[in-house]
Amino acid sequence: LPFRHVAIVVFGASGDLAKKMTYPALFSLMANNMLPKDRTHFIGAARSKYKMEDFHKKISSGIKQSSDQQVLSKFLEKCPYISLSAYDDGPSYQRLDSEIAKLESQSTGSGKNLRVYYIALPPSVFGDVSENLRKYAWHKEGINRIIVEKPYGKDYQSAKVLSNKLASLFTEEEVFRIDHYLGKDSVKSVLPLRFGANPFLSSTWSREHVQYVTVNFKEAFGAEGRGGYFDEFGIIRDVMQNHLMQWIILAGMERPNSLSVKDIHQAKLKFINDCRPVRPSDVIIGQYTASSKDPNKKAYKDDETVKKDSKASTFATAVLYIDNDRWRDVPFVIRCGKALDETRAELTLHYKTPPDSLFPSESGRTGTTFTIRDHPEKSHVLTATTKKPGRGFTVLNAPLSIDFSNPKYTDSYVPTAYEVLIYDAVRGDHTWFVPREEAEEAWRVWDDAIKNSESRNPLKYEYGSEGPKEEKDLLKQLGVEFETGE
Ligand code: BG6
Repeated sequence: LPFRHVAIVVFGASGDLAKKMTYPALFSLMANNMLPKDRTHFIGAARSKYKMEDFHKKISSGIKQSSDQQVLSKFLEKCPYISLSAYDDGPSYQRLDSEIAKLESQSTGSGKNLRVYYIALPPSVFGDVSENLRKYAWHKEGINRIIVEKPYGKDYQSAKVLSNKLASLFTEEEVFRIDHYLGKDSVKSVLPLRFGANPFLSSTWSREHVQYVTVNFKEAFGAEGRGGYFDEFGIIRDVMQNHLMQWIILAGMERPNSLSVKDIHQAKLKFINDCRPVRPSDVIIGQYTASSKDPNKKAYKDDETVKKDSKASTFATAVLYIDNDRWRDVPFVIRCGKALDETRAELTLHYKTPPDSLFPSESGRTGTTFTIRDHPEKSHVLTATTKKPGRGFTVLNAPLSIDFSNPKYTDSYVPTAYEVLIYDAVRGDHTWFVPREEAEEAWRVWDDAIKNSESRNPLKYEYGSEGPKEEKDLLKQLGVEFETGE
């Protein structure tokens, strides 16, 4: 990396995301020699007051126990912490600036200084932080970048306000809107699967052959401890409108002219513009109640951080339609839920059974499927109709699968989504970040459905179950099954 010094400043360093995701990612990037060890610092900033030792304890607790302790203590030496008096307190930012300037002046590298500000903070303080950063902590001769975490607004209007604020302070080149799903191999792999050399997939990737598409996102754990955020945002904003939508965009968009940033972003935006706003009547929402089997699995509302009358949704199933020649009338059925019976994240194409098929399936399944899975393991699974060994001509849908946890298929270093994206931001590559218009337009698809869902009482489902029973009616109506036939 051609920098004299690299400063990665983590705003919200005392928070959960920093502990669980950001610092472990920074540690791993350093341990795997992705960042220049002698010229990089990771500066934590937040309002809490910490003794350095306590801060280091906190961030170490999120890093794998099995990590090399020597490498870890070297890393911690590079992790100073600055406590800000308030997010709108100018002098705090001046202190931050001089702390970074000191580290920069001690560096012996050549090239420009790079400052990357990673902002994982509630939207209410975002304006103050960005203004003060621009005013006091932007390196005048160096390169500055800002990584903006979700939530990117709450709806189209607030996203627009946020974009305008960012545009008034920074160039679009300097802004990196992060969606960690874009750092996942399972999400990115859609591109080579579709536009690489797989004619059996690319030629069937449309309404002519696909009956419907499902995205199945289930978590076996609840929103424990996140009531403050969840009450206000709910599951559609938490994962559907952003993470799962990004997966769908890549799976649904037309072939970009090339793999350049501009062409990929253009193809993505075109797809979003073809999406029909989700109809409120095509959305089911739920909220989990306590488990009848396990007393530790409490109802969402019994969490201390949750408002007693909260109507926040922790489960949603929605149907999206795309008004273009490739996908007209093909339902994209998206399910996401917390506190369910399993953890799973996958996108599946469900193929039509040709009307002249000589082999109707015994199981009654409508056809074959192709799944790209992120959880519980990273894999691709194609179920194909074939002959069941034995007498006669009984057929079955057999999986032809590849499991990427097999070391045969992977590099020795497989970075997490956050590592990939932070490294991209350091290199200045925008490909897997969300440009302004895309971030705003994605809200248009969801605004009505979200607003309407907030006026409803969510359906109940038990912690550890498959979700609200009423979902079955919607699926039946659409002729949709979530099972992949494995
Ligand atoms: C986060 C959400 O952005 O994504 C969480 O806030 C969710 O609620 C998580 O659990 C899912 O990410 P992953 O990578 O575990 O699928």
